[in-house]
Amino acid sequence: MAFRFNFPNPDHPSDNDSAINDEAKVEEITEKKEKSEKEHVAEIFLKDNDFDMPDDVTATIHTFGDTEVHCYNSESVEEYLCRKRPESSNFVTAVSAHSDLVPDKYEGGLTVWECSLDLAEYLTTIKTQVQDKTVLELGCGAGIPGLCAMQCGASEVHFQDYNSEVLEYFTIQNVRLHETCCHCRFFSGDWSYFHEIVRQQKYDVILSAETIYNPDNYKGLHDVFQHCLTRDGVIYLAAKTHYFGVGGGVHLFEEFLKKEGSFSTEVVHTINAEVPRVILKLTWKKS
Ligand SMILES: C[S@@+](CC[C@H](N)C(=O)[O-])C[C@H]1O[C@@H](n2cnc3c(N)ncnc32)[C@H](O)[C@@H]1O
Repeated sequence: MAFRFNFPNPDHPSDNDSAINDEAKVEEITEKKEKSEKEHVAEIFLKDNDFDMPDDVTATIHTFGDTEVHCYNSESVEEYLCRKRPESSNFVTAVSAHSDLVPDKYEGGLTVWECSLDLAEYLTTIKTQVQDKTVLELGCGAGIPGLCAMQCGASEVHFQDYNSEVLEYFTIQNVRLHETCCHCRFFSGDWSYFHEIVRQQKYDVILSAETIYNPDNYKGLHDVFQHCLTRDGVIYLAAKTHYFGVGGGVHLFEEFLKKEGSFSTEVVHTINAEVPRVILKLTWKKS
């Protein structure tokens, strides 16, 4: 299936317009965003999704250092969902619109984005930081960084995605490809409401890849960081320096964080590419 991220071409000058006034944008996004059609905020249970994926849904083994992560192939999961799911499904709506991103409906969780692979690779170089830790992956999609943390010895990994069908047909099925004693939980819905469902739960490590493309979501993401990170916890965020056509990116997100004043940031790893990619480390600011 032809599947494309509708981020316009970086070489096209008009696509860069939204990056121009960073400061005004930061002001604008500190207002809490109200969305009309939100995906249901819920916990999705592993035991309720204990079904066998059909044989034509194939899987790949990704190797990061000495750690293996099994993951169903996006395209075959997508084809399966197009066959199985009703037209009202948010994912099928996105496919009908020839897009892999329909804001507030389907946010691209069925594709494996390159920064998630960067983050998994990076995690294997700091294994001791996730061993025996409680980890959350936000905007997980396939959940490759979370799965990698699980394989590196995390005691508990919670996966969160906007879309419940991504969790049911992709993330959970990927977890089921592994033999693990790690305790996993799954949550759907918008970041703005995440802390209401997990309540007092705190995480030692929060992971997130390719989730800062839309500045409208920065406040919701930041709310999760503030409510859910332990006092000596750490956040690893993998992202492109700029998301053409959508307007978000590392610089804008760092400006947002600076303005909010809660977290210090450090670039701990850079991948030089046409659009460079980085891994940002966030920790609480010392008061
Ligand atoms: C571009 S995809 C990245 C998926 C995965 N992390 C990867 O890198 O392969 C963005 C992810 O963030 C999630 N997401 C986007 N906006 C969200 C929001 N407002 N609340 C919760 N999750 C959101 C989507 O469901 C989607 O899985």
